[in-house]
Amino acid sequence: MSCSDCDRAVQAACAACGGTVRSVVCLGDRPLANALLTSRHDEVLRYPLHVVQCAACKAVQLITQVSPAVLFGGYPYYSSQSLTMCDSAGQLVNRLCDDWALGRTHHAVEIGSNDGYLLAHYAHRGVPVLGFDPADGPADVAEARGVRTERVFFDADVGHAHAGCASIVHANNVLAHVPNPSSVIEGVAAMLRPGGLFVIETPWLRALLHACEFDTIYHEHRWYWSLTALRPLLRSHGLTIDAVELLPIHGGSLRVFASRSMSGQNASVPEHDIDTMLDSFALDVDDHVAELSAWWAELQEHGEVAGYGAAAKATMLCTAAGLSPSFVVDSTPAKQQRWMPDVDAQVVSPSELTRRQPANCVIFAWNFAAEIAAKARTYVDNGGALWVPMPHPSKVSR
Ligand code: TYD
Ligand code: ZN
Repeated sequence: MSCSDCDRAVQAACAACGGTVRSVVCLGDRPLANALLTSRHDEVLRYPLHVVQCAACKAVQLITQVSPAVLFGGYPYYSSQSLTMCDSAGQLVNRLCDDWALGRTHHAVEIGSNDGYLLAHYAHRGVPVLGFDPADGPADVAEARGVRTERVFFDADVGHAHAGCASIVHANNVLAHVPNPSSVIEGVAAMLRPGGLFVIETPWLRALLHACEFDTIYHEHRWYWSLTALRPLLRSHGLTIDAVELLPIHGGSLRVFASRSMSGQNASVPEHDIDTMLDSFALDVDDHVAELSAWWAELQEHGEVAGYGAAAKATMLCTAAGLSPSFVVDSTPAKQQRWMPDVDAQVVSPSELTRRQPANCVIFAWNFAAEIAAKARTYVDNGGALWVPMPHPSKVSR
């Protein structure tokens, strides 16, 4: 595999610290995973997808930054489409409100607040909220449910403009997306009141490598975080890690609690094998792609194969392994009737699954397999077979 930035991969400087980088894997020039087409033959723009690791700060990253305005302009992602996400956010918020006795005199802030799926839980508990998110569609939904939202890309300047406003700041699935994580963390540190808490959730690099979740590598995900890389970055802005939890969400995520307290307990998780896994990752991806292509060819012998979930990772999986679903169902209205780039499959409503009743259906949004399998019961009762592609192709049993 090669991309138009392969030459740069050995000369580029780390976007976090300026250190020298080494190549991890090249996934070629690929379409933007969330740039669904309005009509089937729209032009598809492709950008290099090449992962490197910094020798100095260990941050794993893409060498090419696609402009955030291009990446997130018409962002069709609505967090509330996934019950799993809302439940997880609700549980966390309730726990934090109880443990920290949060109420009217406090202030909860989220960067990348999307449609308000998390802050709405604080509002419900009477805690004043403020979200930052540049995507208009989701921000409209957030405002409609009472979550005040500033429509900007959050950075140090925005944070300083709100200095000292926050008792608690959440960055849920956002540190992977930002062009300049150091600027974001500086902004968060500025917003925190004395004794304030910073809660980060982000996909964990070790989980990605361990299960070879190469479909979660796409242009929106500029960074693939380990605690090893996150810790010095937080420390450079005066924040210490107080506690870490590992979550199953998104194929394995880190939840990090940080604050300005000097009593940081230096919480840790096992990451000693990450470098070895990075060494073999490119070969692991090749093996995995070969396995997926062979499995798909077998499914196709039995007739139509559909997909469930027009997730970003669906575009990546299909384009990497040459999978060609007849159609893909997704509950997000903004995605329906559009086409997945370079996949030639239309996104339609989940009701199409039972109407067309294809022999096989693959849950591309495998991180929500349980939730989706429950919704696809009628399809299975009518004789359809439901599959997950990751970590290896397997049939979903009832
Ligand atoms: P997701 O896995 O969140 O994202 P990514 O784009 O980061 O890979 O995408 C899940 C997609 O699946 C999203 O478009 C919504 C859709 N979905 C359904 O259609 N039905 C469901 O029950 C769930 C949970 C998700
Ligand atoms: Zn390359």
